Parts: sequence; structure tokens; C-alpha cells
Amino acid sequence: MARVLYSHVTKHFGDTVAVEDLTLEVFDKEFLVLIGPSGCGKSTVIRVLAGLEKLTAGEVYLDDVLVNDLPARDRDIAMVFQSYALYPHMSVFDNMAFGLKMHGVHKDEIKRRVTAAAETLGIHELLKRKPAQLSGGQRQRVALGRAIVREPKVFLFDEPLSNLDAKLRVQTRAELSKLHDRLGTTFIYVTHDQVEAMTMATRLAVMKDGVLHQVGTPEEVYFRPDNVFVAGFIGSPSMNLLPGKLTGTPEEMRIELKGFELSLPAERSKRVASFAGRDVICGIRPEDMHDRAFVRAEVRGQVIQGRVEVTEMMGNERFLHLLVHEQELLARVDARTRARAGQDVSLLVDVDRVHIFDAATEKVLDKFDLPESPAPVPGEPVASPGAAS
Ligand SMILES: Nc1ncnc2c1ncn2[C@@H]1O[C@H](COP(=O)(O)OP(=O)(O)OP(=O)(O)O)[C@@H](O)[C@H]1O
Ligand SMILES: [Mg+2]
Repeated sequence: MARVLYSHVTKHFGDTVAVEDLTLEVFDKEFLVLIGPSGCGKSTVIRVLAGLEKLTAGEVYLDDVLVNDLPARDRDIAMVFQSYALYPHMSVFDNMAFGLKMHGVHKDEIKRRVTAAAETLGIHELLKRKPAQLSGGQRQRVALGRAIVREPKVFLFDEPLSNLDAKLRVQTRAELSKLHDRLGTTFIYVTHDQVEAMTMATRLAVMKDGVLHQVGTPEEVYFRPDNVFVAGFIGSPSMNLLPGKLTGTPEEMRIELKGFELSLPAERSKRVASFAGRDVICGIRPEDMHDRAFVRAEVRGQVIQGRVEVTEMMGNERFLHLLVHEQELLARVDARTRARAGQDVSLLVDVDRVHIFDAATEKVLDKFDLPESPAPVPGEPVASPGAAS
């Protein structure tokens, strides 16, 4: 069992607010990814759990035990950093064994654990080498091994893949997901890389300026962002965000945008009718704008006109950079589209999937259902229902 609870945790460094009133539960065996822009407090969140920083206010619990004043070495937590700092003069085996020796673990037990970890990570044949004789990816695996042999309750990762090249990152990402399944241990993983976050997380926690903005499965955060920040931060290329006004009647509500408007379907109109007259921000994901020749029949759309400025062929799709009534929009359409730079096009906007945020609070006005049968998340734990907010 390894459940972590942050309760109203605040951490200031002098005048700098690193973390503000964070309440977050990390479930047993979960792979929780903390994501947010540089300086938003991600590292601080895991460092207070590791016992490397003292809290300004609040409580941190590990399996219902208050650990605020527990020394780092007694916390049963292992941390893997971006810079893996292996001892250059020691072999891979000794690097992995070092922490255990310091803890007075018997040498047979050390051998058993190091051998098992090396096998798990596929570095068994490297145990006699020195760090200088390893590739970057292999060194990162040794650093992982050093954490695994401690058999901790919780693994903390602080951007462990950022020193690896693109190909190795993809490979190591998949290995980390498998490792998580195999170890059955709670992982808390910090990154500012969206793809890492979306692919590995059982749940994502999105932070900005020390404040937690949303926690949920990758699907929830992507398809139902709580606010403008999450909507714009998660997703690449990012969501188009346009200022507008919500008007109409409960039978038919409209979002009036600069130069055009979008009429909402009947059920949705009813849901948002009480917000008529509100200034809003309308969010449209690039993939929710379609070339009319290649759109799926079930999409309820509304046609908008624009001019194509640039197109980018991505292989499986084509990005269209558009100018729609002087506003720049990005659409991500079927690769077979015949739209080319300099042409006028009409695109279909999926009005069931348009996001509507209150312009004043930047909070979402209504949440719609997740798409049918979302792709399963690898290694998803049995999380207590209702805990994701
Ligand atoms: N030891 C420290 N002394 C003073 N300020 C600090 C200290 N550690 C962190 N901070 C500040 O606290 C804020 C949060 O820092 P933190 O390292 O948690 O951010 P982060 O989200 O991990 O950023 P990055 O993605 O760049 O690693 C930043 O404004 C940072 O400058
Ligand atoms: Mg950091």
C-alpha cells in the first residue's frame, strides 16, 4: 500500500510562492503525472514528499501517517532525477548497490536485489562496466535501477528523460509504463512534456503558478478541460481560443464570434441558456474542424469560411493555418484534403465539441460527455470512483 495525501500544502521560498494550498490524493499503485510550465511548482511538490523541503503550511501523509517531520531517509521513497549523477569510479553493480550498503543490507540480499533490478531493466550484461562506458539511455536505466533496488513505497521522478534523445525517450517511456505495471508501486512523475504525460499517466495533475488547476485521467483533462489554462496547455497543436458572446434562447443558443457565429444543438442550448448575455471564450480543438469532403457522418457541424495561409502535411493529417475574419485558427484535417495555401475554404466545426468558458472567470460553463469508448489507459489502476475532480 502506498497512498499519498497532500492536504492544503503551501510552500513559500521567501516571497516566492512555489506551491499554494495544494490538496491532492495520489492513489495506491497510481502513475500520477504532474505537468505544468517551468517554475509552476512541480519539483517542489515532489520534493516536499521526499522530505527535501519543509512545508510552509499544510500536511503530507504517506499511508495515513503524517510525514511532515519525518526525516527524508525514513520515508521509504526513492527519487530519480534528470541528472542521474552516477559515481564514475564505481561499476554499474556498485552504483546500484551503494545505497543498500549504506543501509547495512546483507550482501546476499544486495546481490539478489541488484540482479533482479538489472534483469527488469535489461542491463544485466552491463553490471561490470563503469558509467563512462554506457550510453545516456543505459545510464538513465542504472539510475532507475538504483531506485528500484531500494524497493520503496513510492517512486518520484523529476523529468528523468529530458537528457535523452527523442528516439530513446519514446522507448524509455514505454519501458517506464511496463515497469510501473510490473512493480505495482505508486509513481509520481514530473514533466513538462505533454506526450510523456498523456501516454504514461493514469491521472494528470495540471499546475500553473503553484496552483493545481485540474486532476483527471488524460481523457478527462483533454476532452473536458476545467478552464482556459488547461484547455490551452494540454493538446498539441493547442486549442483555438476565441473571444465571443453567448446569446439566444433556451431553444437555440449561439456563440457570437468575430465575423461569424456558431449555433449550439438543442440539448446543449438548454444547458447553457442561463448564461445568455455572458462574454465567453470559445475553444475549438484543431481536430474538431473538418474538411467537408472527409467528415464522419455523425459529426454535427456548422460551416465556417476562411482563407488558408499555410498548410503543413503531417503524413496522417494536414494542418491548415487559417485566417477566419482576421483571426488565426489552426485546423487539423484529413490528409486527403484538397485545400491549399491562398485558397478560400469552408470547414465544418463540430458544435458538439466546442468548449465554452466564462470570459471573466475562465472556468468552463458546461461539461459534455467523454467520447464513446475512449482508448484504455495503459496500467490504469482501480481508482476510487469520484476521487478525480
Ligand atoms: N530553493 C529555492 N529557493 C528559492 N526559490 C525557489 C527554490 N526552489 C524553487 N524555487 C522557486 O519556486 C518556484 C517553483 O519552483 P519548482 O522548481 O518547483 O518549479 P518546476 O515546476 O519544477 O519548474 P521546472 O519545470 O523549471 O523544473 C519557482 O518560482 C522557483 O524559482
Ligand atoms: Mg522542476
